[in-house]
Amino acid sequence: MNKSSLFKELFTNIKTTGAITFSSKSLVNKMLSFANFRGAKTIVELGGGDGSITKGIIDRMDDDATLLVFEISENFCKNLKKQFRGENVKIICDSAENMDKYLEGRTIDLILSSLPFSLIPKETRSMIYKKSSQFLKPHGFFIQICYSYLLRFQFASYFRSIRTAFTLKNFPPAFIIICNV
Ligand SMILES: C[S@@+](CC[C@H](N)C(=O)[O-])C[C@H]1O[C@@H](n2cnc3c(N)ncnc32)[C@H](O)[C@@H]1O
Repeated sequence: MNKSSLFKELFTNIKTTGAITFSSKSLVNKMLSFANFRGAKTIVELGGGDGSITKGIIDRMDDDATLLVFEISENFCKNLKKQFRGENVKIICDSAENMDKYLEGRTIDLILSSLPFSLIPKETRSMIYKKSSQFLKPHGFFIQICYSYLLRFQFASYFRSIRTAFTLKNFPPAFIIICNV
């Protein structure tokens, strides 16, 4: 998929993508700066999209780590599979709420999410929060990028500690929510 096909997929499915553009490199760098990749064996990305965050994760993760990327758009999934062919990168064309089906008994060190939670139906959203907090290791991190500060209040029922950061170096400017269980 070239850049214009990626944007077409983003706009055509705005109700599930929830974005007018992909994350900037600067936002991805800032988001990933809150994650400790050293020793992280199981990493999960929620909402792979064009692969901008996926690439950042792969560049930073240990050689023996496994990355599971959840994405519901078949076109984005096909493109992600073409882009990232490593054996330890699994592109999963399924909703994030089904993450446990693919974990094969593993717990998660890091969850990196760009899901548009404000557009996801409440039941699905609650299931994603519940499973994320349930399968995250005690010292693991759930890191979310979003455009509304209010989203942090949804996380409060599932995560013990929540911090936020903000960057203007994205269009639109974005928040980063960093959670621990
Ligand atoms: C805002 S886009 C982010 C894309 C890219 N990661 C970025 O940061 O630019 C959100 C992505 O989440 C995907 N998505 C939405 N709901 C999902 C769900 N329940 N499970 C997995 N992916 C989902 C959308 O298809 C879309 O690609």
